[in-house]
Amino acid sequence: MPKVSELFFKTAIVFLILGIAAGLQMAISEDHSAFPAHAHINLLGWVTSAIFGGYYALNPQKAARRIATIHYWLYTVGLVLMLPALYFMMHGHPALEPFAIVGSLIVAVAVLVFAFVVFSPETTRSVSGVPSAAR
Ligand code: HEM
Ligand code: HEM
Repeated sequence: MPKVSELFFKTAIVFLILGIAAGLQMAISEDHSAFPAHAHINLLGWVTSAIFGGYYALNPQKAARRIATIHYWLYTVGLVLMLPALYFMMHGHPALEPFAIVGSLIVAVAVLVFAFVVFSPETTRSVSGVPSAAR
């Protein structure tokens, strides 16, 4: 598996554990007020990261490009700023809102970077420099 896919899946599983912990905490306490944070930890943190990892696993040429690593770090730093801030905002800390705003804007930029990767053509050269069509 390409390194960037491995990174996305490792990050995704950490968010799934945290998302499920937040879900269980809501269910057990019968206080569902943090559900938007729980939903986004699972959907942005687990589901979307895993889809990114799957895409790069299916497209190893694109996974080897530097922009894939830039995509990973932008997206993950955005999530790390956004999701804990959202969770604690829902638990009565509204002062954390700037982190959620900045984090979600970084996440949005990272998604545009991914769109660029998806629409860009696959390189025709292999790592050795020999055009793949010539092999
Ligand atoms: C053991 C695991 C989980 C538990 C105990 C749990 C628990 C909960 C609870 C208590 C709520 C609030 C429901 C409400 O008040 O309307 C909720 C909402 C939600 N959960 Fe989970 N959850 C779990 C896993 C997941 C996973 C894995 C995902 C996504 C991949 C997910 C996605 C959502 C979403 C999107 C909502 C918001 C639904 C809405 O808009 O009403 N949950 N969850
Ligand atoms: C930076 C990206 C995103 C931002 C800023 C964002 C923002 C929001 C906001 C403001 C709400 C309404 C919350 C409320 O009224 O309680 C919402 C709801 C929702 N979003 Fe997102 N969203 C983002 C990405 C996503 C993605 C990628 C998914 C799915 C893969 C998603 C799934 C949902 C769902 C299921 C709800 C309804 C449940 C809830 O209220 O939490 N969102 N989102």
